[in-house]
Amino acid sequence: MSFPDRRLRRLRISEKMRQLIQETTLNPSDLICPVFVQEDLKSRIKVESMSEIERLPLGDINDEIGTISDLNIPAIMLFGIPAKKDDEGTSSFDENGIVQKAISQIRANFGEKIVIMADVCLCQYTSSGHCGIIHGNKIDNDSSINTLSKIAVSHAKAGADTVSPSAMMDGQVFAIRKALDEEGFTDVSIMSHSAKHRSSFYSPFRDAAECAPKFGDRKTYQVPFTNAREAMMEVETDINEGVDIVMIKPALSYLDLISETRRRFNVPIAAYSVSGEYALVKGAAKQGWVSEKDITEEILYSIKRAGADMIVTYFAKSAAKFLQES
Ligand code: PBG
Repeated sequence: MSFPDRRLRRLRISEKMRQLIQETTLNPSDLICPVFVQEDLKSRIKVESMSEIERLPLGDINDEIGTISDLNIPAIMLFGIPAKKDDEGTSSFDENGIVQKAISQIRANFGEKIVIMADVCLCQYTSSGHCGIIHGNKIDNDSSINTLSKIAVSHAKAGADTVSPSAMMDGQVFAIRKALDEEGFTDVSIMSHSAKHRSSFYSPFRDAAECAPKFGDRKTYQVPFTNAREAMMEVETDINEGVDIVMIKPALSYLDLISETRRRFNVPIAAYSVSGEYALVKGAAKQGWVSEKDITEEILYSIKRAGADMIVTYFAKSAAKFLQES
């Protein structure tokens, strides 16, 4: 053997030695748990394409948040499914809307025990299923950011800690920051879906949240998955507009962008491990082709290793459980 005789196996010799050498950690405190709440629902509905994920009626929300908080998961991401949709998506900013009600109920029951994050978008609320408002045959940017700002303010009024715009409209972070500040919500933070890609990995979510576009696709607003520099421009723009946390979405096929964001910027980074990533693991695990726990662990650690500070994941509860047991 040539000199120096580098033997990396020395540091893998025992479980304790491996613990000492471990570079990346994963804790329940890194996780954000998505929660779907549906208006006028009597009892929980299973999401067909996402095994073990359910839409909840308002009445079940306290139980669910209790479970999440007992697992030491510090945050939830709320998505609403309204009873009515219209062209302008008006139920999205209704003071008595389903998300607003859920937020104030959670705040009243849990105080500061959980960080309440709420999705700010229009696709669940518009008849078109698009993330913005349609004028003619176009998704109109500037009227859409106006409505997104109203949604954010309504969430803040209900008691949200963080609003999370996912519509990919230009200027959405600036417009929301301005609206929040004008209403006195200077303490409400913004976690933007900064580099949200046009992705087939979202299909199961559209089933969960009833938000598939009725015509066309999201190519005129979401980032093409071929463009890394463009994704960095989105991140940089959001930082310049006053974002608090940036997000890369999806996660697994976009680890390069998470690490590039980590290298270039000092802002906290969230990664969204989306519905399709979840469904692929669940599907294969159901067949007995992979171990769900082992694969989940490896995926979540990889996302952390790439540079994410926090992960929005449908595995939040199951991962928090196995992390506590290990
Ligand atoms: C809607 C929205 C989507 C997701 C989060 N917010 C779907 C989409 O853009 O079509 C996807 C999340 C997931 O797949 O888990 N603005």
